[in-house]
Amino acid sequence: MSEQKREQWGSKVGFVLAAAGSAIGLGNIWKFPYVTGENGGAAFVLIYLISVVLLGLPIMIAELVIGRHTEKDPVGAFKAMLGGTGWVIIGYMGVLSGFFILSFYSVIGGWTLGYIVNSITGLTSSLKDVGTAKVAFNEFTHDTVMVVLYHFLFIAACVFIVIRGIKNGIEKWSKVLMPLLFIIIIVLIVRGLSMDGAIDGVAFFLKPDFSKINTDSVLSALGQSFFSLSLGMGAIITYGSYLSREDKILHSAIYIVILDTVIAIMAGLAIFPAVFAMGLNPNSGPGLIYHVIPAVFANMAYGGVFATLFFMLLFIAALTSGISLLEVVVAYITDEKGWSRKKAVLIFGTVIFLLGVPSALSFNVMENITVFVGNNFFDFMDKLTSNFMLPIGGFFIAIALGWKYGLDKTMHELDPDTRIISLKELWAFTIKFVSPILVLLVFIFNFIRQIGD
Ligand code: PFF
Repeated sequence: MSEQKREQWGSKVGFVLAAAGSAIGLGNIWKFPYVTGENGGAAFVLIYLISVVLLGLPIMIAELVIGRHTEKDPVGAFKAMLGGTGWVIIGYMGVLSGFFILSFYSVIGGWTLGYIVNSITGLTSSLKDVGTAKVAFNEFTHDTVMVVLYHFLFIAACVFIVIRGIKNGIEKWSKVLMPLLFIIIIVLIVRGLSMDGAIDGVAFFLKPDFSKINTDSVLSALGQSFFSLSLGMGAIITYGSYLSREDKILHSAIYIVILDTVIAIMAGLAIFPAVFAMGLNPNSGPGLIYHVIPAVFANMAYGGVFATLFFMLLFIAALTSGISLLEVVVAYITDEKGWSRKKAVLIFGTVIFLLGVPSALSFNVMENITVFVGNNFFDFMDKLTSNFMLPIGGFFIAIALGWKYGLDKTMHELDPDTRIISLKELWAFTIKFVSPILVLLVFIFNFIRQIGD
């Protein structure tokens, strides 16, 4: 194991923005709005908030505690805490999840780049109705060479940032990109809300409809809070390992969780009012972003500018998540194998790119090739990680810290001078009893659903 001096974040704000950057991603801007729309609007948001408090926040704190306590990558962290036992498998599974998720996440990240280009060149301005936009999207994803190229460019952007390290790479870029993301989303909200009929979109998104809430939507909320906060695979352990002793974990975790949730809700407010104002159908599920949004902008004054901003927003969100996924793999290789950062980033960036190619091809030449029970390669990777590897990882992270290693050995990591002592105790109770049960439910439910499909 190498004993190179470990980098640390330069400032607390830098860390919080980087971790929020990891959390805020396609999950917030693409998935949260349409899942909320399908599951009873504000009723779902409420359940989502409860999931965040009972599951997301406690595990986020646990991962930060593990990271700062051990100052190691996920594998090294489990070795340091529970060395010589099978628990280290959880660390390996985390690194593997980072590897897998980035490979397909980058394909979607690449599409956003393609749509930025198409918006700038005016191509999206001709997509005046949803049908035309759908056909254009189909053509776009069927251009094999271009989607692989965009996937490559997305990975290249992650490599460009991660190779520069924590302070000069991830932190520096997060401090530029996250405020930019915030500004863009505000501009889009203001634009959307100022349109005639926008209020119907707000009502659709935020009017509670409790009749749509069932076990399925509760479990979706739990799963979504987990993925959205980048939990269960050690991304947050890794970011936590670069925290200084002075940083306050409880406070930082609360900021990160609030930022992630606020941006998810803002994304809905940027999308639905405009969709309603244009009289389009908001219930288009995953296709909302690529089928409906281009049509919204194509019918709007200066639509090209707003379309460009929208896809930039998606790209920035995806990029700051992508770098955290790559960093998990790189931290493992540099910490455990003693490689230089440069070598680790270049080699593993290339390997992840190659692994992502079949995912990029899952929308064209490999469309009909089933890898596993009816899923093509992309869907398989997505479900394997989001529905199985992350919840299993989260469950064992909670158990490892709460039961096996013991909270008594790590309690001092939590804001020593905090006056909110009961908050610490509340966390201790939640991480031991509540979060593991909830995350286990998500896993079992996904398992049953998968078999039932
Ligand atoms: N949180 C990201 C999103 O909402 O899109 C996805 C993600 C990033 C998951 C990093 C896991 C991770 F480690």
